[in-house]
Amino acid sequence: MGAHSAAAAAAAVLLTAILAAVATLVSCNTEGDILYSQRQAWKDPIGVLESWDPTLATPCSWYHITCNNNNSVIRVDLGLAGLSGPLIPQLGGLSYLQYLELYGNELNGSIPDTLGKLSNLISLGLQENLLTGMIPDSLGAIGTLQLLKLHGNNLTGAIPQSFGNLTNLIYLELQRNALSGSIPASLGNIKTLEFLRLNGNSLTGTVPMEVLSLVLVGNLTELNVASNHLEGTVGSSGYRVSAIIQDTLKTTG
Ligand SMILES: *[C@@H]1O[C@H](CO)[C@@H](O)[C@H](O)[C@H]1NC(C)=O
Ligand SMILES: *[C@@H]1O[C@H](CO)[C@@H](O)[C@H](O)[C@H]1NC(C)=O
Ligand SMILES: *[C@@H]1O[C@H](CO)[C@@H](O)[C@H](O)[C@H]1NC(C)=O
Ligand SMILES: *[C@@H]1O[C@H](CO)[C@@H](O)[C@H](O)[C@H]1NC(C)=O
Ligand SMILES: *[C@@H]1O[C@H](CO)[C@@H](O)[C@H](O)[C@H]1NC(C)=O
Repeated sequence: MGAHSAAAAAAAVLLTAILAAVATLVSCNTEGDILYSQRQAWKDPIGVLESWDPTLATPCSWYHITCNNNNSVIRVDLGLAGLSGPLIPQLGGLSYLQYLELYGNELNGSIPDTLGKLSNLISLGLQENLLTGMIPDSLGAIGTLQLLKLHGNNLTGAIPQSFGNLTNLIYLELQRNALSGSIPASLGNIKTLEFLRLNGNSLTGTVPMEVLSLVLVGNLTELNVASNHLEGTVGSSGYRVSAIIQDTLKTTG
């Protein structure tokens, strides 16, 4: 009896130790877990994710993944990879991610709100997929973003006001979606903006003066608002930035 219960106690201690060790392993590899969950949520007919082996200690040796010196994931490069299926909300847990390049696939469903937690992101490339739903306001919180490319999907609703907070943005490409509402004046805050492409949506109202002024006080070199339902200042005729610069030069010169 005594020997039996001692053995049982020893077994219980051992089991607890094993469980603790497993829990540690799992928590050491949360980025790998997130990416492996994403792999399982996607269809991968070409087999581009075959190297994504969840038994490895980190995802850093997987194809299409890049880590920094601390084994934190900083890039996911899966453009034109034949993938279909949704973006899982857990992607927002890849805290060190700088580049999320998933363009030219057949990703569907909506853009998870949680992507707004990617506070080191420089480039979000989700263009040319089958994404639907609204653009999350939360993306406006990613102050590090320089490239935001969501064009060629079927996104609906308004352009978030919060995008005015993206004061490092150089490319804002939202063309060829189903966006409606007016162009937020807050985009005029983005003095770094060089390319603003909003053509091929259902935007209404006029182009705000704050946005037009980026040509003079900022770096805007291309403003494409063609093929919308806009009225007034710029109408709906496409590339008008050079025309605006010339008008200003004539009246002041
Ligand atoms: C790596 O981690 C250490 C300790 O957490 C941190 O001080 C350092 O800045 C990190 N380096 C990178 C490149 O993230
Ligand atoms: C995404 O596409 C798959 C396969 O066509 C389909 O089963 C699924 O319902 C779609 N999801 C959404 C949110 O449209
Ligand atoms: C986009 O979404 C709308 C509304 O859900 C739908 O009617 C339309 O067919 C979709 N267009 C494309 C190109 O998928
Ligand atoms: C971002 O923009 C929204 C709407 O313009 C504003 O209410 C909010 O305070 C801004 N957030 C930050 C962190 O600047
Ligand atoms: C405009 O672009 C120039 C050259 O790329 C850069 O040096 C400057 O900082 C930019 N200005 C703003 C407001 O981003």
